Amino acid sequence: MIKPVSYVKKLEGKSNTHLIKFDDGHEYAVKYFIQGFEKSLPNEWVAYCIARYLQLPMPYAQIVEIPAEFSAQIPDFIESASRYQFASRYISGCYNGHEVSQIKKIVNEHQLASIILFDYWLSNRDRTKKNILLKEEGNETYHLWIIDHAECFGSYNWTGEQVEDLPVKILKSATHRLMAQFVKDESEFYEAIKVIQTIPNFLIEEIVSIIPDDWQVSADEKKILSQYLIRRRKKMLPRSLKKIYGKGVPPVSIGREEQRGG
Ligand SMILES: Nc1ncnc2c1ncn2[C@@H]1O[C@H](COP(=O)(O)OP(=O)(O)OP(=O)(O)O)[C@@H](O)[C@H]1O
Ligand SMILES: [Mg+2]
Repeated sequence: MIKPVSYVKKLEGKSNTHLIKFDDGHEYAVKYFIQGFEKSLPNEWVAYCIARYLQLPMPYAQIVEIPAEFSAQIPDFIESASRYQFASRYISGCYNGHEVSQIKKIVNEHQLASIILFDYWLSNRDRTKKNILLKEEGNETYHLWIIDHAECFGSYNWTGEQVEDLPVKILKSATHRLMAQFVKDESEFYEAIKVIQTIPNFLIEEIVSIIPDDWQVSADEKKILSQYLIRRRKKMLPRSLKKIYGKGVPPVSIGREEQRGG
């Protein structure tokens, strides 16, 4: 496991996220486990593992252990109830979606349909413009990264009952609308669903089972989470896609649905 070497700074945002340099020579955005936001880190972990399988542009991440003596030097540190934290490799020199007004090309546009469906599958309500990173690669040309999956499965402090009852509805996201403009063809969404459906059930269960005990997800909740993921991708995900599209409308309809209050 990588070890923290030096504290860099606090990162903006409402959660307890700090930039820390580790002994592998890289800086990581470390999100701490905080009481009241108990599901933030389990959500980050599960979303990350699934994103890796789907080859989505999410920064490399891992679960890290940070000694209390190290965290004690962080100014205004909010005490963590766990030894384990979630570390996302820091991608330097990026803009967020608010900071870029003109995008001509997204170099990894082939991943955008999968990102949108991934958000639907995991009920990620927080795909705001702050939760994408745009790395400039040329004139008005960007590589798009996705970050911050603390609010998947409806919230950062879900209960099992809430996850079982999550509605299948249109997610209102200007970022989805932005990304959808660069999806070339509706077929990319159907291809993305096919890939999601190839993830073995065992792998999903394994990912969920690895959530550290410190993060207080009960055995029942783990079961509900695995079942949610397994169940949702079969019938509900194609249903969501139909809702997004209406009847054969092009991808920009994701934006139109929103405008209709869909
Ligand atoms: N891997 C990363 N590379 C670069 N910047 C990052 C990375 N992870 C996080 N950040 C930066 O840290 C900020 C806070 O991280 P994150 O969005 O995960 O937490 P948050 O506090 O929950 O944010 P929000 O206020 O959007 O809910 C991000 O808005 C981004 O600027
Ligand atoms: Mg964020």
